Amino acid sequence: MNIESIRPFAASRPRSNDAINVKTQIRIGLVGFGTVGSGAAKILFDNADLIARRVGVPLSLTRIVDIDVTADRGVVLPEGVLSPDLDGLMNDPSIDIVIELVGGYDFAKHVVLEAIGKGKHVVTANKALLAVHGEEVFAAANRAGVDVGFEASVGGGIPILRSLTEGLVANHCLSIVGIMNGTSNYILTQMKREGREFQDALAQAQAAGYAEADPTFDIEGIDTAHKLAIMVSLAYGSPVNVKDVYTEGIQRLSALDVRYASELGMTVKLLGVAKFRDGEIEARVHPTMIDKTAPLAQVHGVYNAIHVVGDAVGDVMFYGQGAGSLPTGSAVVSDVVDIARNVRKRACGRVPPTSFQMDCRVPIRIRPMEELTTRYYLRCMVPDQPGVLSKIAGILGNHSISIASVLQQGRQEGQTVPVVIMTHRASEHAVQTALQDVNRLSSLVSEPITLIRVEDQES
Ligand code: NDP
Ligand code: HSE
Repeated sequence: MNIESIRPFAASRPRSNDAINVKTQIRIGLVGFGTVGSGAAKILFDNADLIARRVGVPLSLTRIVDIDVTADRGVVLPEGVLSPDLDGLMNDPSIDIVIELVGGYDFAKHVVLEAIGKGKHVVTANKALLAVHGEEVFAAANRAGVDVGFEASVGGGIPILRSLTEGLVANHCLSIVGIMNGTSNYILTQMKREGREFQDALAQAQAAGYAEADPTFDIEGIDTAHKLAIMVSLAYGSPVNVKDVYTEGIQRLSALDVRYASELGMTVKLLGVAKFRDGEIEARVHPTMIDKTAPLAQVHGVYNAIHVVGDAVGDVMFYGQGAGSLPTGSAVVSDVVDIARNVRKRACGRVPPTSFQMDCRVPIRIRPMEELTTRYYLRCMVPDQPGVLSKIAGILGNHSISIASVLQQGRQEGQTVPVVIMTHRASEHAVQTALQDVNRLSSLVSEPITLIRVEDQES
């Protein structure tokens, strides 16, 4: 539907309460014209009129900086917009907002801090930068009186951060649990649907263009940990050191465990889990078994979903494309619009980037993993002979770990067979210590026991 043809843009005509606003356009500079940069640029050009009506003045993408100015990015740019000249962009006093979409740490941090230092507002999708250097960036922005938008850093196109900082601010956040990495979710979906081993599914994700050439951050859970750290700091008003987020990826998961999960009526997902308990926060990322009927189990391929529970609102689910040029570009442009509205109304800093006012944040302890309790799936490769299972059960019992069920399919006397043990809720410390005891006994297990945590109503 082309509603522009029905309602022509008339926002440049000032209304009475806009009289004090002198800006007739907001000018934007973009650094990094790759996947997300080209998506954001396309939206700014294609939806310019729609966006202008929402802001009140046009947004003008006047400078784009990239080291490669020849590649075809699928966006037709006006003459002279694209160049490798970062200084030209930074020293252009007419640029109000700088969008950083290069990624990585050092250069991106330099771009963001230089822009802030020059009094420009900043938008970024760089979760790695924010999870590690967010405090420095936010403090610099606070001193300079500029806004920092980073909606695209978590959940791609899903407006989760604005919901945490605005829509859900009436609530104490009880928990945030979600699938926050599209690449891992695609791999797990392929392992489940096609019975593929991890390496096969990863190769498939790379061939399909989902996983990056270096997928380390995605498959090792680091990307999810970055996103969880950002959400936790916004939801609880506490700075989070990403090193305190327990992080385990999907790279050691086997097709056998994915199949057992199905047989147990469960699905394996890489979850980011944050919960507020007894005045402390638990924050962890790991492959997790969830009931196959749970809403998060219905999230397939590169989609993301985040389940937030607030004390007043109850359950809220966010679902959508967690990556990609246009979905992520959509979130980037939403920040640009937000800031442009603030610029017009001279309301910058209205919503602090930390969600809580900077001087009202209180550090909350992140509980170490060994202090947490949950349920466990344990797969033991054992010789199929009498007494083995009772010895393992005995060791678990010695550590106060109660067994909920045991699954062994088929018999191959004298050979190694998988035995799956589901536990009741147990302490992580106790489980890790018990597994060390069992793994030490080569007469009991032929390889280290595989552990997958279970998340359910009980956890
Ligand atoms: P890309 O690699 O596609 O784009 C980055 C662009 O920056 C490339 O064109 C690159 O050029 C350019 N670049 C690299 N170094 C410089 C430099 N020194 N000066 C100017 N330009 C430079 O990355 P994405 O678009 O995928 O990601 C951008 C950011 O968005 C990252 O922080 C990422 O984590 C985040 N993000 C990405 C999502 C996605 O779906 N891709 C989703 C959510 C967040 P060249 O290619 O020649 O190196
Ligand atoms: N690599 C990320 C993913 C991109 O696969 O979800 C979005 O942050």
